[in-house]
Formats: sequence, structure tokens, C-alpha cells
Amino acid sequence: MATLTPPAGAPAITQNPDIRYLGRLLGDVIRAYGGEGLYKQTEYIRAASVDRARGIQGADLADTGLDALSLDDTLSFVRGFMLFSMLANLAEDRQGVAAEPGADVASAVARLESHGVSHDAVLDLLAHSLIVPVLTAHPTEVRRKSMIDHKNRIADLMQLKDAGRAETPEGENLEEAIFRQIALLWQTRPLRREKLFVADEIENVLAYFRDVFLPVLPALYARWERVLGARPQSFLRVGSWIGGDRDGNPFVQAPQLAFALQRGCQAAINYYLDALHALGAELSLSTELAHVPQAVLDLAEASGDLSPSRKDEPYRRALSGIYARLAATCVALTGEQPARPAKLSGEAYATPQDFRRDLVIVAQGLASEGDGALATGGALGRLIRAVETFGFHLATLDMRQNSAVHERVVAELLKVAGVEADYLALDEYARIALLRKELANNRPLGSRFSSYSEETATELAIVEAAAQAHRTYGPQCISHYIISMAQSVSDLLEVNILLKEAGLWRAADNGEPPHAAIMAIPLFETIGDLEAAPNIMSAYFGLPEIAGVVKARGHQEVMVGYSDSNKDGGYITSTWGLYKASQALAPVFAEAGTGMQLFHGRGGAVGRGGGSAFAAIQAQPKDTVQGRIRITEQGEVIAAKFGTRDVAMTNLEAMTSATLLASLEPEGISTRDAARFAGAMDELSKTAFAAYRDLVYGTEGFRDFFRQLTPIQEIAGLKIGSRPASRKKSTAIEDLRAIPWVFSWAQARVMLPGWYGVGHALTAFEDKALLAHMAQHWSFLKSALANLEMVLAKSDLGIAARYLPLVEDQALAGSIFGRIRDGWAQTHDGLLAATGQSRLLDRNATLETSIRLRLPYIEPLNLLQVELLKRHRAGEDDPRIREGIELSINAIATALRNSG
Ligand code: PGA
Repeated sequence: MATLTPPAGAPAITQNPDIRYLGRLLGDVIRAYGGEGLYKQTEYIRAASVDRARGIQGADLADTGLDALSLDDTLSFVRGFMLFSMLANLAEDRQGVAAEPGADVASAVARLESHGVSHDAVLDLLAHSLIVPVLTAHPTEVRRKSMIDHKNRIADLMQLKDAGRAETPEGENLEEAIFRQIALLWQTRPLRREKLFVADEIENVLAYFRDVFLPVLPALYARWERVLGARPQSFLRVGSWIGGDRDGNPFVQAPQLAFALQRGCQAAINYYLDALHALGAELSLSTELAHVPQAVLDLAEASGDLSPSRKDEPYRRALSGIYARLAATCVALTGEQPARPAKLSGEAYATPQDFRRDLVIVAQGLASEGDGALATGGALGRLIRAVETFGFHLATLDMRQNSAVHERVVAELLKVAGVEADYLALDEYARIALLRKELANNRPLGSRFSSYSEETATELAIVEAAAQAHRTYGPQCISHYIISMAQSVSDLLEVNILLKEAGLWRAADNGEPPHAAIMAIPLFETIGDLEAAPNIMSAYFGLPEIAGVVKARGHQEVMVGYSDSNKDGGYITSTWGLYKASQALAPVFAEAGTGMQLFHGRGGAVGRGGGSAFAAIQAQPKDTVQGRIRITEQGEVIAAKFGTRDVAMTNLEAMTSATLLASLEPEGISTRDAARFAGAMDELSKTAFAAYRDLVYGTEGFRDFFRQLTPIQEIAGLKIGSRPASRKKSTAIEDLRAIPWVFSWAQARVMLPGWYGVGHALTAFEDKALLAHMAQHWSFLKSALANLEMVLAKSDLGIAARYLPLVEDQALAGSIFGRIRDGWAQTHDGLLAATGQSRLLDRNATLETSIRLRLPYIEPLNLLQVELLKRHRAGEDDPRIREGIELSINAIATALRNSG
């Protein structure tokens, strides 16, 4: 009997053979390691859930045998279903669910060509482009790294299976090897027991750089050079927040910042050293058989490599010299020897450009021989590309802190320096006037002879650490400082003041223009702040101190926050607010004569801006993507999008091609339509906003309802990130971080942040023909509705209702849940009407298959979660209950994907 396999013969479901195969092996593992009893029980519950999902049985817990499980069996059962979901994810990713048609640079270039946009125009854009996925440590990845590693090993083995191999390269039977990996997964503890530290987060992300980004980016460029017929500058980078984002995370301080950069530098240099080592083995050209230009001979001579066996091999000698210099660079920058120290001694490189220059000499030498094929496309070309992309710093590390902290710190600095006794009492105009005066003066405010509060001392230490990092690794290592909850011009100026304390802001002096070594970037993240953003930026650009700095840099970044604006105003209002803010910012930047760079702070779940990045980038308003874009990649999304080299290539292709299309493709809708559509969206957004605010912020008891219905309190206990779960000790929804807000609604399958309010808006909107027209022809609304549809398909109010007994006040539960249920029905019906479908995902067979295959496996997990929550909240203190809740959270998140 096969186990944990998807429902056989269900109509409209294309079976994924890998899911069947891996499901069967998982069943074998459960039988072998969990025993026949557990296997049979699991299989029985699975079959019953599938039947129930197909409407064959009632919806009673008792029907499935779930309530008969002992606590130990419950834990094993949840683990089994979690592993099934993990393997199903793996199988889906392998089948290219992630790859969207046309989401690659070759297709984008062809599409642009069909609109009359030439290769040269694409190359011109790329000459000043910057495309950056920025990895953050936002706590939404519930899986331990060890589990992900096992999963990746299974993916590698499955590739051998695809190739028709029966054995691994080590001679093992392939199926037995896969079985063994699944058995290891089965016996690996899925929950982290220890708290996660910032250093762990830094190490975790480094693995992605070593295994994926360092090799993948140069390979992509090699591919793109063929498509474009030319070598574009290195416009694709990878950024990081890990060790620099301290908004609400007191554990990120100066030492963590320094550690992140030091480890990044080591990873980059060790990677280059390995590449040089391999090149040394490869470039055995002899002066007897090849003409070698003088520059290479000089490099060989300078290397100090006197080995007689290499006397006629100048390339090898040159590379030994480069190796020695790079190894010395590692010691100079990080204080530690590289993994494979050099045999020769050499002088450290001062900058990555100097290192690159030597590599280019070698490449030019190779190019001057024969047809030049040895110089391009090969390992040396890739190494040069890697150095351009990753420098000695690996990833640009952003700093981030909350505007409220900056305000307090600047106030204290001003007070202690005797400049202003009560900065916080000043109005915005007075603050700006005072800060401008300070920015025009190079004298620092802080003094090492004064004492400061711990907060101020910590903030001063971190800008000092950033300045030190600039001296060590060069200015590319930190170039962005994000200001969370930015609401005013003074919020930006305060950061420049702090940078000035460490010499990172220089006032105009002796005819020299002012200079900012790090850019202060506002993060607008509430509906009101998004509306105010254009005025704030216009006023900021209008300040003479700032105008000079911005002009010299040539561009300015603005970050927009998806999660918090969604929590503040609901799905459609947030999405539309982000669109409008970006659109209104474009002319402000044009007037200031500076390039606009938007940084999208989005997570995986739709309530946090998740969904297809390819569609989302293309759906940006005209003129807001000018070849420059940064996007956060967080938590579970990092493993999903960059877990393996193939998947990473697919996703980086999608991001790059979408940026090209958004920047260069002619506007798809006429000006008249744009105005009509905007009017319609304003109306929809207004109705949705009122409905959402009324429910979430205007309903007596809503906070209690939310806190009792969902596992929000239990989520805080998961050890999935270094930062504390909330900023303040308050239970107000306003104070809750967006991640647990979205995460907990997903667990209870309500997924409210992804849709609530939209139904009210769609119902009330009278011009249904216009709505349908927009839904069909406007990329913005198409993409917004596609994400909405995915959320609706994953939500299930029947299951959500099972959580209702957890709410103490049953009358309250009934009335609020009734409103949610009505809102869901309205959203569902409104969506189908607007998109002309008869059921959800009618036009997205792949996603429908994926979701429908999963649903029967999630439901028992939800039912068990409810039972465990009941017992936990009733005061039962068996630690297995707590563990079961956390496992169920983990399993549901894994099964739903993008739920955090
Ligand atoms: P934040 O992020 O809580 O760090 O501001 C919000 C999010 O990404 O959801």
C-alpha cells in the first residue's frame, strides 16, 4: 500500500510523479522508523482527510481517528505530515512551478525588441542600473537549516534519478540513498531548542553566498552577455540586513556589524582564492608554445615564484603572485589567514579594483592569443565578474533603525553639547532649522569626555563601526541607512547628523561640496506616511545642504513598506497606496534632477507584499523603475527562491527581466484609461479601507478575538529569529509587528490581511464593466487580484471556524466571525465576477493543483493544533503539548508556503 500519496484519480489534478515517489518513500521510512502502528494510523487519517476534502465524509474530528492519537503519536503524526509537505514543495520546485513563462532576460529582450526597443537601449539602461535582492533575517523561516540541507541533498539525488541513473557517483543504490536522506530528515529534530543569535543568522546567510550567489551571479552574466552580444556592467548585486538591521532588535550592535562584514570578507576572499587555485592548475600555457605579452611577464616576474618547474609558465607564476597578494589581503582585512594560506608572500591589495586589475592583465594576455576564447566566458571571466559584484565585502550591508530612536539620540546629543535643551519639544520647522545648522558645521556634537545613556552610546558606537568598516573594506560595504517609520524631513536629517558624528557626513568645506558616504533612506510604511512621502521628499530635496549631496550621488533611494501599510489599511488600500506613492514620487525626483531608486520591503505572504516578483515589478507605475530597484528577500522566501543554484538562477532571471520590462516597455494603458482606473481604485480603496479599519481597529473586543482565535501568543515562543517578537509590551494591534500578525492569521487559515475589505469594495463599486476591464487589461490590478486569489484559495473559513471555541466570549466570537465570513464570501464572489471565472484559480492550473494537493494534508494539522491549543490554554503543562503546538505551526507554515 502506498502511503502519503496524493488522492488518486481526483479530477483536474495533474499528478506530480515525484510527489508520489517521495511520498511512498516517506511512508516506508515511517513504517521502518515509527512502526507499523503509526504508519497505519497516519495512512488512515490521510485517507479520511482526502475523502473529507472530496466531500465524502462529514467534518468531524472523530471521523479521522485524530482524537484517538496519544501525545507521542500526535508529535510523530505532525512530523510526518510536515515532511510530506516539505517533500511536496521540493517536487514542485523541481517541476519549475517557480518559473514563470517569459520571466528571463532573453525573453524580455525579445519582447522589448518587438516594441522597437533595441539592444543598445537595453545596454544603455544597464549601464546605470542596480538590481539588488536584499536578504534580511526577518523571522518567518520555521525550518532549521539542517532540515533544509537534507532537503537539498534529496533534490540533488532526484536530479540523478532524472538523468536515469540507478547509482550515486559513490556507487550507492540511488533509491536507497534517497530513502536514507528521508530517514535522516525523519530523525532530525525540526524545532530549534536554543535561541538563535545574530551570529547564527549571519552564518546561515553566508551559506547562501558561498553555495549559491558567488557561483550563480557570474554564470548569469555569462549567459546574459550571449543574449545581449556585449558585456554589461555589473548591475546585479546581493545585499544584506543581517548584522545591520537593529530596528526592534537590541542584539544587533557594533560588534555584530563588524562580525557580519568580517565573515563576508572571509567568504568572498576564500572563494576567490579557490578560483585562483583552480585557474593556476588550468593555465599551464608555456612560453614555448604561446606568445605571452609583456604585462603578464611582468606580473609573473613580480610574483616571486621562482619554482623551476614553472619557469616557462608565466600565467601560473602570475597567478601564484596574485594568490599571495590576495591571501595577504585576507589577513590585513580580517586578521585571519585564509583557509588555504599562500606559499609566497605578497603585499595586500588596497582595493578590490587593484585585484581586478591584475586579473584583467591575465585575461588580456589570454585574449591576445589565438581567437581569444581562453579569456572570455571561462573561469577567469567569471572570477572577474565575481570581484566586480562582491568586492572584498561580499554584500552591501544596510543599517536600519527606528526614527523614534534617532530622535531621542539626537536630542540627547544636542542637550549634552549645550546646543538645545529640549529638541523633542521643538516643532518640525524648528527641528529642521536646527539640524540644518548642525549639518553645515563639521564640528561633531558628541564628545568622548561626556557620558551618554546606553541607547545613545550604542547608536554612536554603531555609526563609528560603520566608519571603521568603510576604512577597512571600502565604501561599498555599507551605503544605505534605512529609517523605519519615517514621517518627516527631520527624521532624515537626524540620521545625517548621526553619520556626521562618525565622519560619514561631511559639510561643505573650502569649496568642497558636502558629501554623505552613507545614504539616509526613509522607509514609508503607513498609509498616511505613503501619502505624505512625495511632499517629504520634495522638501528634503529642497534643502541646499541635501540638494548638493543628492546631486553628487546621482540618485536617492526611498523604501516603501508593504507589511505595515497592509496592517494599517488592509490589502487593497496598501497596494494602491504603494502604487500611488511611487507614482507621485517620480516627478519629485525628476524635478530634483536625480535618479529614483525604490526599495520594496516585502515578505512572502500576500499580506506582506508577497506573490510573484515578476508580475509585481512589471506592475509598478511608469517611470518609477528606472533600471534601479532593491527588494527585500526574507525568511522562508530565501530558501524557496535561492535554495539551489537552478532555482536562484530562475528567480534572478525573473527579477532582472521584470526590471528591464518595467523600465523600457511602453505603457500598456492610455493616459485616459490611467486616469479612469486611478479614479476607480481611489473609490475601491476608500471603501475597503473603511471596512478594514472598522473591523480591525473599530470593533470592540477585536484584539481579544484575534489573540484568542489564532496562535499569536504561541508563535512568539518559536525560536526562529534573534529579534524579540514585539517592540513594546503592548497587546495593541498597532504595536504588533506585521510578521506575527500575518503569520498567525495564516495558521488559523483566515488569512485576513490578504483580503479583508476587498469584498466590500468590489460589491459597492457600481461600474462592474469597468472593473472587469481593469482586471483584464491593467497589470497593476491583474497582479493584485492574482495574489488575492491565491490567498483566498489557501484560506478556509470552515477550518477557521474550528478555532472559534478558543475564544472566551462566544457571543463576541460569533459576531466578529460572522462579519469575517460575510467579508470572505463578498471577496470571493466579487473576485470571480471581476475576473470572469466560475471558481478560484480557474485559469491557474499549476497553482490550483499545488494547493488542492496540499489541502487535505493541512486540515488534520489545523484540527490537532486547535486541540493542543485548548489543552495548553487550559493549563495542561505536559511539555509535549507546547512542542506539539510549535510543530503544528511549523508544519502548517511549511504546507501553506508563503504564509509568514
Ligand atoms: P519589520 O518588517 O517588522 O522589520 O518592519 C515588517 C515585515 O517585513 O513584515
